[in-house]
Amino acid sequence: MEDGREETIVVTGASSGIGREIAIQLAEPGRILWLLGRDEQRLEDVAAKVRSKGAVAEKVKIDLADLKAVDVFLENTFPSGSDVDWVYLGAAITAFGEVQDMTGEDWDKLYRTNLLSPVQMARHFYVNMIERKRGNIILISSLAAYAGYPTATAYATMKAGLLGLYRSLCYEGKGHGVSIFHASLGYVGTGIYKSAIYRKTSYEKTMKSIDRLGFRILPASEAASKIISNVKRGKSEFAIPGYAAAMKWVAPRMPFVITAVHRRIMKIYRQLA
Ligand SMILES: NC(=O)c1ccc[n+]([C@@H]2O[C@H](COP(=O)([O-])OP(=O)(O)OC[C@H]3O[C@@H](n4cnc5c(N)ncnc54)[C@H](OP(=O)(O)O)[C@@H]3O)[C@@H](O)[C@H]2O)c1
Repeated sequence: MEDGREETIVVTGASSGIGREIAIQLAEPGRILWLLGRDEQRLEDVAAKVRSKGAVAEKVKIDLADLKAVDVFLENTFPSGSDVDWVYLGAAITAFGEVQDMTGEDWDKLYRTNLLSPVQMARHFYVNMIERKRGNIILISSLAAYAGYPTATAYATMKAGLLGLYRSLCYEGKGHGVSIFHASLGYVGTGIYKSAIYRKTSYEKTMKSIDRLGFRILPASEAASKIISNVKRGKSEFAIPGYAAAMKWVAPRMPFVITAVHRRIMKIYRQLA
């Protein structure tokens, strides 16, 4: 509760993984959590947990890739003057395979879900927030935004787009009392791999390849608590866990390190093909 008033928090991707954990961890009396996702049953499960912690939960079953429907939802539910304090934009999908094996439809799906949708949500809430001169928008992104990710090229492309949004909007927002955050994650153990699009590769091969790379896979609950604590401390651009923070720093300064990782990704991919 801020200044005795209820806080409103919007979480996209609240039905699973990191978004689910963020919603549950943020739940407390005096907070209203808007939970957006597609899977009604999983959304209800999160809503029940949020309510059990004393917060109000509003479930919204919506396909964020349907930008026209989302426009109607945003205009009706959060019209101009709405007071929203925190917006966590976590919804995304991923896709594995080499570019020549991906379809235009695959790219379009990732474009709408992972880039156009967060841009649409961020724009809508940003405009409301600058009217009230307060608010926070958190873009849940990836180390791939800085480093790229061969065999997940469409995903890396969209996340790099989010980085562009962050690096520009955060300066515009400063003058209006609105804060923008870019949270980059390394590997996190969530459903995103099971539900990914696979072209000439598979879930099993991809998980084997991630395992061989040897990076730590963070539990979703830990990823969520680290995102929340960084945001609370006002850290606007950060990467988690430690190896992701190191690679974010290294990517523009010592690109040969990233080249070595990418060569390894491709080597393992071809060995498993
Ligand atoms: N897991 C990782 O290793 C990792 C690494 C770096 C960054 N990230 C980022 O972390 C964020 C959360 O991902 P996660 O790992 O927690 O994945 P997840 O468990 O698969 O959760 C993804 C969420 O996005 C929602 N979503 C996807 N497409 C949607 C659509 N068209 N309309 C509405 N909701 C949609 C899903 O809803 P439904 O299930 O209801 O469809 C789900 O709630 C993403 O932005 C992801 O890129 C994850």
